[in-house]
Amino acid sequence: MKRRDFITTVAVSGGSAYAAMKALGLLEKPATAQSPSQRGSFRLQPSKRGNRVIILGAGLAGMASAYELGKVGYDCIILEARERAGGRCWTLRGGDQFTDTLGQTQTVQFDSGLYFNPGPARIPQEHITLDYCRELGVAVEVKANVNRREYYYNIQNAGPLSGQKVRAREAITDIRGYISELLAKAVNQNAINAPLTTEDKEKLVEFLRTYGDLSPDLFYKGSSRRGFTNYPSAGLQPGTQSDPYDLSALIQLGFADYESFEWDWQQQMTMLQPVGGMDQIAKAFESRVGNRIVFQSEVKEIRKTPNGVSIVYADSSGTNQQVTGDYCICTIPLPVLKSIPSDFSPELNEAIASVAAIYVRAGKGGLQFKRRFWEEDEDIFGGITWTDQDIAQIWYPSEGYLSKKGIMLGYYQFDDTKVGPLPPNQRLALALEQGSNIHPQYRNDFENGITLYWPTIPYSLGGWAEYTDDVRQRYYARLNEPDGNIYLCGEHVSYLTGWMAGALESARLVTSRINALA
Ligand code: ALA
Repeated sequence: MKRRDFITTVAVSGGSAYAAMKALGLLEKPATAQSPSQRGSFRLQPSKRGNRVIILGAGLAGMASAYELGKVGYDCIILEARERAGGRCWTLRGGDQFTDTLGQTQTVQFDSGLYFNPGPARIPQEHITLDYCRELGVAVEVKANVNRREYYYNIQNAGPLSGQKVRAREAITDIRGYISELLAKAVNQNAINAPLTTEDKEKLVEFLRTYGDLSPDLFYKGSSRRGFTNYPSAGLQPGTQSDPYDLSALIQLGFADYESFEWDWQQQMTMLQPVGGMDQIAKAFESRVGNRIVFQSEVKEIRKTPNGVSIVYADSSGTNQQVTGDYCICTIPLPVLKSIPSDFSPELNEAIASVAAIYVRAGKGGLQFKRRFWEEDEDIFGGITWTDQDIAQIWYPSEGYLSKKGIMLGYYQFDDTKVGPLPPNQRLALALEQGSNIHPQYRNDFENGITLYWPTIPYSLGGWAEYTDDVRQRYYARLNEPDGNIYLCGEHVSYLTGWMAGALESARLVTSRINALA
């Protein structure tokens, strides 16, 4: 089997390009749990003939591809439709302006020094993204993604706690206590059918007493873990422990989705963000490969030639230009790519259209407040308040603690069928109205805000690829397979969709595959 066939076969059979690269000795580090996928020391072999690679899109996938290929002598050109690099890795600051596909223009009014990340906004600790931050010198800081002082605020069929701001710490402590109580009693009464010895059962009950903070008689009667109504202080003030909620009320509040968010291996309590905005990552890549980017170049045709590729694009004056090369790395998001005339096979076109149809319709809003009331009035430093209102989430900023003003994420919907389709001023009004149910301070302290709906952001037309098992099964292998010398690349061709790491790992994989051939 030829080297190329081998990589292709392995990659297509299970998407495990890592296995292929490992077998070919393209990875220096052995596979360990700490070194997933493309991570670890990575360097392509020197280009034998200085082949020309045309990269479509100067987002992270495109720039990382040019960066890695450029290190070993490939001649790369990146065609970028926008006036800026970074794609969805984007940060909005005062004075920035953007227009959506419906012609709605928003101008960001934030004060100097304040910013909002409308796309990626958090980095898991195991992601390759941090390897690139280290390599490119991008400073990062903690992003508090979960905070026990955040609230769960439900109003729909939420029982006695409906419309009440329930601190996560209280709800989690209580439910853990009650579940421990129920299980401890069941174990003690031999009411569970589990293969446990008498000693196991004693140890389990002992564990549950600690886990749920149960009293010696195995009742959950509340716990200091949930916090105080009056805090312990100096002198004769030991604090007043708060009373637990009823089990029934907590069940009706129905917060399992909120709490389990943190159990996703990537949605960690402690995440990272670049100091100064997510676009610091894009800017770092741009500082290395910016001289390869041709901005305002809108791809019009993607063609195969007998030995390579030919791309037609409209330049900044609207005039069509043509470039040819040996290979093409196409990072264009699939909802955009599906409408660009190409020589792709019917099978690949079908896969592109099918995955394009299931891109996440994500929407977000960033709100500037003249006062960090969440810190000043409610002692909340970072984290996310969850609600069953349309706004779904409120994020408290992890930058600028204790400073005067701040930008809060006012809503974030993955499947935004309600807020996003509204005109921007109505989205803002809705975010303010629903947010002020949780934080009445909105009414006095709000200054300005911006909202965006990714399906209407030009050259993105969607949040990210979100595969169903069926679509993954039917189309993923095809998207991974080069068509002639054209390779699709980006988060959508990874198992880390919706993460910058997906784009970066895809870039390493695709450049390795080209490198194995040329
Ligand atoms: N990775 C995206 C997020 O964390 C989906 O919100």
